[in-house]
Amino acid sequence: MTFEKKILCIGAGYVGGPTMAMIAAKCPHCRVTVVDINPERIAAWNSDDLPIYEPGLDELVRATRNRNLFFSTEIERGIRENDIIFVSVNTPTKSFGLGAGMAADLQHWEKTARQILEFSETSKIVIEKSTLPVKTALAMERILNCRQNGVCFDVLSNPEFLAEGTAIRDLERPDRILIGSRNTERGLKARQTLADIYASWVPPERIITSGIWSSELSKLVSNAFLAQRISSINAISALCEKAEADVVEVSRAVGMDSRIGPKFLNASIGFGGSCFKKDILNLVYLCRYYGLEEVAHYWENVVKINDYQQERFVRNMMGAMFNTLAGKGICLWGFAFKANTGDTRESPAIFIARRLLEEQAEVVVSDPKALQNARSDLADMEGRVRFVEDPVSAAEGCHAIALLTEWDLYRGLDFQKIFQSMGQPAFIFDGRNILDHQRCFDIGFNVYPVGKPPLRHF
Ligand code: UDX
Repeated sequence: MTFEKKILCIGAGYVGGPTMAMIAAKCPHCRVTVVDINPERIAAWNSDDLPIYEPGLDELVRATRNRNLFFSTEIERGIRENDIIFVSVNTPTKSFGLGAGMAADLQHWEKTARQILEFSETSKIVIEKSTLPVKTALAMERILNCRQNGVCFDVLSNPEFLAEGTAIRDLERPDRILIGSRNTERGLKARQTLADIYASWVPPERIITSGIWSSELSKLVSNAFLAQRISSINAISALCEKAEADVVEVSRAVGMDSRIGPKFLNASIGFGGSCFKKDILNLVYLCRYYGLEEVAHYWENVVKINDYQQERFVRNMMGAMFNTLAGKGICLWGFAFKANTGDTRESPAIFIARRLLEEQAEVVVSDPKALQNARSDLADMEGRVRFVEDPVSAAEGCHAIALLTEWDLYRGLDFQKIFQSMGQPAFIFDGRNILDHQRCFDIGFNVYPVGKPPLRHF
């Protein structure tokens, strides 16, 4: 079968895998290949046990794999054979040298650019999918356009806005597709080629275009704004706890202002995930680089409030449990950074578990999808943490449950039975405000929500 378009994606992670599966599903006329340097990851994509958990992903991959969606480790061949190349490699925060802890580590990115240059025998459109610092496309162009043999590269920025846990829905019905390009004849043509792919299923008014730098910056700013809302409501949750107000009532009232809107106003133990912190730190680094200290400081505080909220949660636990956690069993319900994913990157649960261990608590971790990741996050604590999938057994004998991820399954458990199996007095710290607090209190628990007055029996 001949395909109209041949698409490659370098990087088979949380973004590359689902995005390419969606393109393959919606564009049967395109052949889509996803490559990665990690052979185990590719083997998993080719198996019945996909390397990531995402609702709806299994079905999508099953319908397209080996039809017009292929997973392979042959990067070199992939570059040679395809005309449109998405780059979706990871760009973690730099852990060394200049900008350590803030700037993005671009080594995978640059290596990929050099591979594209080395193995390309025909012209290509190269699309930035990973979140990158602004002006990375410029660096990419500089690396790529240094050959004189008539092979040309057009670099586009096409940031991914999907959220984990809802990736398939977000990909199928995106709020917008953003394509940034150069305003040259070639740039505009490349942009049209990419827009045509999305036009197979995305309404035209949702496909928007801009300059490359605006597109790169828009991704950072979107994530910064989302994270800022969470830090804003979390800051208010601290005040609510002192002022005997209820943060859920406050956020409902505030969110009904149509200018503000109701989403992303849930107080919590803080945001996690691979993007928010990384992108804000990137933004902060960028502002500092341009000498905009006040602007950098403003955004940096979104991250500081997030750290504060996690520490505050642990302190609230300590305060409630008579200022000592030593030797007390504490069961963590949820380790993933949010529900419906097994991803634990930057999960507040990691920080909270470590802090509780520092206080010499006996920690039991429970999560329906993230136990494997939790084990590796806490690998250095081996022997000090127990991992139990079933939340009811996990809580047995513990003095407290700390609910850290808003998995639906926690709402419908038999709290009477759980209460009876626990050490007394038993505590629930609901870091997501999803349980029926009054019911838990009536059963006998001391209940500590976020941003609401606690319900205690003493
Ligand atoms: C985010 C962006 O939403 C997405 O557009 C971007 O492409 C990648 O980063 P993701 O990290 O998958 O997506 O998750 P998101 O749903 O945004 O949640 C991030 C964190 O904020 C989670 O830890 C979540 O639990 C927390 N959160 C979210 C809150 O604490 N309160 C809220 O009201 C909403």
